[in-house]
Amino acid sequence: MKLQEKLQEYRGRGKAILATNFYNLETLEGILNAAREVKAPIILQLSKSSIDYIGLEMAVNMARSGLKEYNVEGWIHLDHGDSPELARRCLKAGFDSVMIDASEKSFDENVSITSEVVEAARKYGAHVEAELGYVAKLGQSQGNQVFTQPEDASGFVRMTGVDSLAVAIGSAHGFYKDPPNLQIDLLEKIRQATNATLVLHGGSGIPEEMLLKAVSHGITKINLATEIKDTYMRALRQQMEKTSEIDLRKVFPLAVTSVTELIKSKLLLLT
Ligand code: 13P
Ligand code: ZN
Ligand code: NA
Repeated sequence: MKLQEKLQEYRGRGKAILATNFYNLETLEGILNAAREVKAPIILQLSKSSIDYIGLEMAVNMARSGLKEYNVEGWIHLDHGDSPELARRCLKAGFDSVMIDASEKSFDENVSITSEVVEAARKYGAHVEAELGYVAKLGQSQGNQVFTQPEDASGFVRMTGVDSLAVAIGSAHGFYKDPPNLQIDLLEKIRQATNATLVLHGGSGIPEEMLLKAVSHGITKINLATEIKDTYMRALRQQMEKTSEIDLRKVFPLAVTSVTELIKSKLLLLT
């Protein structure tokens, strides 16, 4: 099933799909293990820096082969694409979905850049996500955020034809100093203003009840990155401290398992 159809199905059921960033073979395996165990569909996301790190062809082939080998229903998605050129490269390489993030541009520029990507993606039947408003990036304070306005959201989706919309409702990338206060009323208004599926960025560090509340008020895709990196590195550091093993294939499994446990807990929460 195409991602846009799956997300609409989930929207109708009031459920959300987890979108997990992966960084290497081990984080990918950890995620796929969890999706297989829980029998949940999953979105495998790559940021530009992960694509640069792994290599575009290698990244997409790794993810595609992984989905097949683990028998998991999943989609490969470009996270925070910063230009139509990058989105086109990913579409050409076989991504199912791309995000174009022109959230720092003016509304009109965001409309025009997003429209360009929607047009490019149509040829591939691919799903497109854009961001409206501004979700604070890693290391930025909440003060940088700009809440999404419901009227803007409906106009933006109409003008661009975008499938999904990342909304700024109080979440932020990375961990939080204080637990976030998601604006559920605002989310509800945005949901009523548009048929696009709504995406929550900054999933790490959001308490479980709040995540569920966001889902019940219209969030259909939840992005998770920082908790995966953090869990992986904590487990790896622990393992490294107690071993002088040089067979790296014996060193990574604990980190992989820790990612599996993390993702399983998130998937079970959302199921
Ligand atoms: P976190 O790093 O807070 O989980 O945010 C992930 C994200 O939004 C990726 O696009
Ligand atoms: Zn994000
Ligand atoms: Na976060």
